[in-house]
Amino acid sequence: MLNFKFYNPTEIVFGKGQMKQLDGLVPKNSRVLITYGGGSVKKFGTLDKVIDELKKSKREVFEFGGIEPNPKFETLMKAVKLVREEKIDFILAVGGGSVMDGTKFIGIASCKDEYIGKEEELLSFGFRGVPVERTIPFGTVVTLPATGSEMNNGAVISHGKDKLVVSSSKSFPIFSILDPELTYTLPKTQIANGIVDTFIHTVEQYVTYPVDAKFQDRTAEGILQTLIEIGEETIENPTNYEARANLVWSATMGLNGLIGAGVPQDWSVHMIGHDLTAIFGVDHAKTLATILPATWKVRKAEKFEKLLQYAERVWNLREGSDEEKVDSAIKKTEEFFHSLGITTKLSDHGIGEDDIDNIIGSLKSHGMVKLSERGDQTLEITREILEEAL
Ligand code: NZQ
Ligand code: ZN
Repeated sequence: MLNFKFYNPTEIVFGKGQMKQLDGLVPKNSRVLITYGGGSVKKFGTLDKVIDELKKSKREVFEFGGIEPNPKFETLMKAVKLVREEKIDFILAVGGGSVMDGTKFIGIASCKDEYIGKEEELLSFGFRGVPVERTIPFGTVVTLPATGSEMNNGAVISHGKDKLVVSSSKSFPIFSILDPELTYTLPKTQIANGIVDTFIHTVEQYVTYPVDAKFQDRTAEGILQTLIEIGEETIENPTNYEARANLVWSATMGLNGLIGAGVPQDWSVHMIGHDLTAIFGVDHAKTLATILPATWKVRKAEKFEKLLQYAERVWNLREGSDEEKVDSAIKKTEEFFHSLGITTKLSDHGIGEDDIDNIIGSLKSHGMVKLSERGDQTLEITREILEEAL
């Protein structure tokens, strides 16, 4: 096992009707800004419930709606202005990954006075993290299980044709309310996205090379098997509470640092996927589903031991040669995504051979030239992966 630090301060409040805990979780006498997306929380009544709870104690409540999927820097800067003008001291994000990520950026930008007028520069720190002493404290009410943003300190912010990672040591939510019933209203395609995003977060921290991290491996395998077990059921029967609860908790545990502690991590699929979303506007998870199988085909030798472990333990493939088991596991992964209604080919999103130079140029401009767990995935190899994914 590799050396690691593990830190995660987020309090999770999980289950049916847990919104009633909100009054006890948000500081009294605070000036609270509720952030939300394009309107689903209004339409389905979640926002009203949140406001009713917050009004149970003395608080000034403000609202900022309109945070779009793949949240845009310009939109978030409007919220930063509001936070400064109204002296907001707590933010409550009500929504999916985009709202939670946007809120993390709002919190950072609002506290970095030395960056006033040049907030774009806050987008350039990536995984190193923005150095901050404090951010605006925030909690979340999750309406879409996918990103794990409710229990991590990362965010992905769109700026022009760039989709950039922003993080800071202070950007963990103070608390997150996870009520699976709040997710019942999601369209099927968003639930499928959530399953695939969680699956790929897990394998980016698992299908690398072995370091004998038994707990992390078994936990990752548990998440993957859970997703395979409940995937189709939770899409077809959204109000099956148990299936949905298992998805919600898997999504959170897939990217809260637990399974990634002490193991090599890849993230190449995400780095390529982010550029595909930025250029072509394809949903985050749908980009990943095209790049993952192609990566495993092109990088089979580098990942062979863990791919074999994945084949045997996750898909229970015991017959045939090792090579056959690995090939069969890759095929089964694709079939699983297809069973959720998610395609694994770039061409199904209208992306063709002619687009590859553009994608490679974009990755180069973002410094994505040494990807994967060993940092040995050059742009030439990424080109091969993109060709394989067509
Ligand atoms: O905007 P509204 O009207 O609320 O509608 C949203 C949005 O259109 C809708 N929705 C959310 N909850 C709903 C609902 N519709 C009906 N009922 C509900 N209960 O779903 C749509 C998509 O929402 P979004 O938040 O964009 O989706 P998701 O949670 O998949 O987040 C994707 C974003 O997270 C980033 C992605 O890059 C992307 O920008 N990621 C963040 C990560 C992190 N912070 O750790 C890691 C991920 O890998 C990912 O990169
Ligand atoms: Zn993701």
